[in-house]
Amino acid sequence: MLRKEELIDKLQLEKHPEGGYFKETYRSETLLPESALPSEFTSGRHASTCIYFMLTSDEFSAFHKVNQDEAWHFYLGKTITLHIVSPEGNYSQVSIGNDFSQKETPQFVVPAQHWFAAEIKTEDSFALVGCTVAPGFDFDDFNLAEPQELQQLFPQHKEIIQKLTR
Ligand code: GUN
Repeated sequence: MLRKEELIDKLQLEKHPEGGYFKETYRSETLLPESALPSEFTSGRHASTCIYFMLTSDEFSAFHKVNQDEAWHFYLGKTITLHIVSPEGNYSQVSIGNDFSQKETPQFVVPAQHWFAAEIKTEDSFALVGCTVAPGFDFDDFNLAEPQELQQLFPQHKEIIQKLTR
């Protein structure tokens, strides 16, 4: 197995503001005009984008939400636990991985506008996944949670929000 530093180097990954490392690998040349998109999109977008995303066990991906559905594809490494809070405040957990005996799934779509965070519970490990969105990603579509604000919105999930925000 490659070490995480080798993977960062080989795939030219950079730090992501939510935590973890990423590299955009695809940006569709097809452009969607603002008029074709729902109102939360503030300008036109590329039709779709993909990234590599690497998470390590010594940090977490902090609660954030995006305007698009986001498809996660597991490539290698240890299981990622996704924590999801719907706009209505319903909490759920999904294990992204390939141990089918443990009810892990190699592919999962986080619905648009759902708050989500990710962690790896196996010590000293990492995972590499792909994340695909359509319309394509723009940091204007990305909302990183403020710990206090998210706790006020969902006081029933205070503990997990405290653990997975910065
Ligand atoms: N490009 C830069 N950051 C992201 C992200 O968090 N998700 C997706 N899908 N693309 C990105």
